[in-house]
Formats: sequence, structure tokens, C-alpha cells
Amino acid sequence: MRRALGLVLLGCLLVVVPDSRLGRGADAEFPGVAALPALAALPDPLRTRDGRRIATAEDWARLRRPELKQLFQYYMYGAMPPAPTVWKAEPAREDRAAFGGKATLSEVTIAYGPPDVPKIHLLLVIPNGRKAPAPVFFGLNFYGNHTVLKDPAIALPTIWVPNTKDHKAGDQERGSQVDVWGIEDSIDRGYAVATFYCGDVAPDHPGFTDGVHPHYLKPGRTKPGPHDWGTVAAWAWGIHRAVDYLRSESKIDPERISVVGHSRLGKATLLAGAFDERIALVIPHQAGCGGSAPSRGKIGEPVKRINTVFPHWFDDEFKTFNDEPERLPFDQHELVALVAPRPVLLTNAVDDTWANPEGQFQVLQAADPVYRLLGAGGLDATQMPEPNRLIDGTLGYHIRPGKHSMGREDWTVFRAYADKHLKPQPLP
Ligand code: GCU
Repeated sequence: MRRALGLVLLGCLLVVVPDSRLGRGADAEFPGVAALPALAALPDPLRTRDGRRIATAEDWARLRRPELKQLFQYYMYGAMPPAPTVWKAEPAREDRAAFGGKATLSEVTIAYGPPDVPKIHLLLVIPNGRKAPAPVFFGLNFYGNHTVLKDPAIALPTIWVPNTKDHKAGDQERGSQVDVWGIEDSIDRGYAVATFYCGDVAPDHPGFTDGVHPHYLKPGRTKPGPHDWGTVAAWAWGIHRAVDYLRSESKIDPERISVVGHSRLGKATLLAGAFDERIALVIPHQAGCGGSAPSRGKIGEPVKRINTVFPHWFDDEFKTFNDEPERLPFDQHELVALVAPRPVLLTNAVDDTWANPEGQFQVLQAADPVYRLLGAGGLDATQMPEPNRLIDGTLGYHIRPGKHSMGREDWTVFRAYADKHLKPQPLP
């Protein structure tokens, strides 16, 4: 059964997910860093831990994919809890005349999991006048839904936000990220756009005092254990909750959900896409270390630096690799490979060497054999393209001039890539 069991109750959607669809966390035990071999090159994605060669798509799906998912959770991101068995979406507001009547904007509250888990406040903008369900871009936002559009009615986050006085959201930030998102351009091209504030699931500070973490602690714990999820995994898991909802919305095409994220949220976006086959297309933008750049990379942000400055992003086990990332039994090309056969586009900027654009190209080269094995195409380039030339194969790559940022010119590339791979029906 592709879609979850759904009941529509008085305008609110209550969904009960059958147990067979629940994911399982990484509960296995693996060797510590000292017992792992150092490997300077990116590990072979088509060889299992015990040395078996993966030669068929079936063995990839049966042996290697589940193994890599466990390894990434154990050594790096921490284990994500199973999907909630029950969740509920309630419309909070609907404006059918957004962008001068071109779109319908809605704010939806998603409740899930144990009692008192903070709710997700999702903003969804769908082009009006479509005859068929719309493809959608979903992306977490950094500062609150009120920043992505200049609309005085969009609800302010009531929880911790970064970069403001007292960490409270206010009217002064309304619309500050309009050009980061370029939502109207996507609407004009027939795409819906959905987003929620990443802090709805995990505010970006160490401590694990708010967001989902305190509600999913194992018995006896006051903070996540050494192999429990960090903040990046919580964000990825939150993206999955948005996908739960988007697939239940009849005006959205459930087979054409793309996920986009910038930088730290790009790391979460890649992880979300790798672990959830309901996501059709994945765009980690300038995601860098801990995302789309190799942990073994010699350019840009090192593992030790990211673990020191952002101790909450990954699990404690990952910190044991600070001085020896070459002992990791995987690297980020294998996270990309977990997305196969679905398309992944890595987008970069020339001046953003911190995110290691060259290393990201190597990540795609090293993921390519998995895509080829699955008959899904791959990286249609043998060297990095010049700036502004889109490599638009199933493993896509783009680098533009400029700095670490997301903006309307980036969305032009995202849409060109999605147009090719998701074949949108044009607006009537
Ligand atoms: C820092 C961090 C990066 C991260 C970036 C961001 O620069 O070192 O890993 O991607 O912040 O999220 O903007």
C-alpha cells in the first residue's frame, strides 16, 4: 500500500501508519575507531564490511543498502527513531489569493509522536488553476516561515530562533529571506513550495533541551546517547514528517516531491533523501562537510572543526574520528549512493571552498558505480564543469561564481534540473 491509511475528520487529517512501514534504527554494535583500518581513498561502495562484492541490484538492496544505513547512523548521524505511528495535520489558515491570486497559501500544523512533542508548522504554497497535482519543492528554513514571504499573516515561531534579541521571532524579520527562496518564481513555473522552520524539530543549539530530542530519550538518559540522533538527523527525520503530510495532500503529486536544503540544512536534506525512498529528487546546496563533501577531504571544513564548533549536529561516536577521518568505514559518496536510483544534484559556489566543491565532484564520481549498477545513469562528466554549466544527469553537479548563499539564481538551476527529471506538466 503506497499511501498511509488516512481518515479525514472535520477538516483535519488523522493518519495511522501500519506497523510494517516503520523504519528501524541502528541497534547493531560495530568496532571502535582504533579497530578500523585507515583508508586514504574513498571506500568502495560496492563491497560489504566483510569484503563481499556487490554485483547485482538485488544484492545492493538486500545487503549493502541496509548495512550502509546502519553504519551512517552508528558512526555519524545517530539513530533516528521509527516514524510516528499516528500523526495529525490541521489547517491553521488558508489564503486562496496569494501572489495576486496565482497561488493558495496554507499554514498547516502537524502533530505527531509522544504527547507534548512540539508541533511542526508547515507553510505550503500551491499554484492555482492546475488540472493535475503539483510537483513540490520542500525545504527546511533557518529562521521561521515568516521570513520566506512578506506576508503579515504568517505565524511567527514561538520557540527559540537564532540571530535575534532574546532568541524570539519578530515582525522585523518578515520577508527577510524572500530572495533566498524565490517562491513566486517556482509558482510561476507550476511548482508548489513547502517549508517549515528547522527549529520546530530541533533548534540549532547544543543542549537538546527543546525540539524533539527530550521526547525521544531512551530510559534513564537526560541527553542522547553516543549512537542516538544528533541535530542533523532530527532535521532529516523532520523532513520525513513533511513528506508524510505532503503525500496526503491531494493537490500535491506524491511521486514528485523534491527536497532542497542549504548548508547545514543541506546535510539534513541529503540524509533525508538517502533514508526515504518516497523522496523523488534531492538537492543538497553547498552542504559541505557532514553532507555532500568527503570527510576525508583535505579542502575546506575538517571533521574535527565541525564536531568542535557544532557538537550537537552528529553523534558522539563521530567525534572519535576527529583526528583520523580516514578510519571511517564509509564516506559521503555512500550517502549519495543511498539515494540511487533517484536523482541527486550537488550545487556549489566558486568562493565557497569551505564546502569543498571539488571534493563534492569526487563524491559523485565515487557514487557513480552504484547508479550504473542500478541502471540509473550516473555522472555524465569526467571533470568538474566550468561555472554555470549544469551537469544534469542522474548525478547532477553545478558550480556558479560567488559565495556561500542560496538565492533566485540557484533556484533557476534547481528547477531546470527538476524539470528534466520530474517532467512537470505545465500550468494550464
Ligand atoms: C558553518 C559550518 C558548515 C555549515 C555552515 C552553514 O560554516 O562550518 O558546516 O554548512 O555553517 O550551515 O551555513
